[in-house]
Amino acid sequence: MEHDTQIVAPDAAGMARAVALLAAGEVVALPTETVYGLAAVAANGAAVARIFAAKGRPSFNPLIVHVADATQAATLVEVNATAAALMAAHWPGPLTLVLPLKPDAPVAGLVSAGLPTLAVRCPAHPVMQAAIAAVGPLAAPSANASGKISATHARHVLASLRGRIPLVVDGGPSQAGVESTIIGVDGDLVTLLRPGAVAAAPDWRPSTSSSITAPGQLASHYAPEQPVRLGALTAAAHEFHIGFGAVRGDLSLSPAGDTIEAAANLFEALHVAQASGRAAIAVAPVPMAGLGVAINDRLARAAAERHQN
Ligand code: TXA
Ligand code: MG
Repeated sequence: MEHDTQIVAPDAAGMARAVALLAAGEVVALPTETVYGLAAVAANGAAVARIFAAKGRPSFNPLIVHVADATQAATLVEVNATAAALMAAHWPGPLTLVLPLKPDAPVAGLVSAGLPTLAVRCPAHPVMQAAIAAVGPLAAPSANASGKISATHARHVLASLRGRIPLVVDGGPSQAGVESTIIGVDGDLVTLLRPGAVAAAPDWRPSTSSSITAPGQLASHYAPEQPVRLGALTAAAHEFHIGFGAVRGDLSLSPAGDTIEAAANLFEALHVAQASGRAAIAVAPVPMAGLGVAINDRLARAAAERHQN
């Protein structure tokens, strides 16, 4: 057990501890009006990597970024008139919008799993809002171990994640008890990606295989343009070499061989490699320990798939 997980009340002392941990790059379970979320500062790649480590996710799904309001959302994503109207109608509340990620948005690459889009939502819960006000936008998946049911009480979080996270803020039972509704907005076209706490409007289209079938699967459709070769201790001149540990390469995921650091750098590294102008990408071996399992899962997908959207 890495942590002696504490539960605190959402009073001044409890919130101060939560905020201090978040600011230090730790993960904290916080109540939202849908389910409990496992939060980390969205701009901090290593903090976001700790979310995946705590959940034991076998691969990197893109995460929802929780924002203070529509104005803050607009610092991260492109908000067109359709999206702005939906935010005005439903925020704060359990509607998540998948929108184009702004190029210079202060969001770690791991949050969107390298996708050109970002899921944003403005939670109605005062505890989550207070944390966002203190430390900025928070990436947060549901606060349950991978494959386990979502947590609607602080004790559910503890049952699932005890020892894996430092702190749970107990905000009482979640009001909605089901996750947010997720929609994609493309022009004035709205696609329902995940049914949830907000009832779908009649004009929201069901997702089809030509758009997005299951949000959780979407990350697997992202791959660099070039062929990707794995387990590369050395690289040829035409290859951009992504290093790890003793294998330095053109750009290292983690010179120290730390899988948390490597996860935080993974998607940025793939983008840099793609933009390098080299004909191919070679990646050093990453051990199957800690987040190495998820990193290797992602790399295997990047190596297997070609020119898919
Ligand atoms: O109510 C909720 O939404 C809760 C609370 C904590 O806010 N959060 C939640 O997060 O349910 P999570 O990670 O368990 O589910 C988020 C879903 C995943 O299926 C993920 O694949 C999808 O959102 N998602 C995130 N970013 C996406 C993107 N850019 N495009 C498509 N789907 C995305
Ligand atoms: Mg979940």
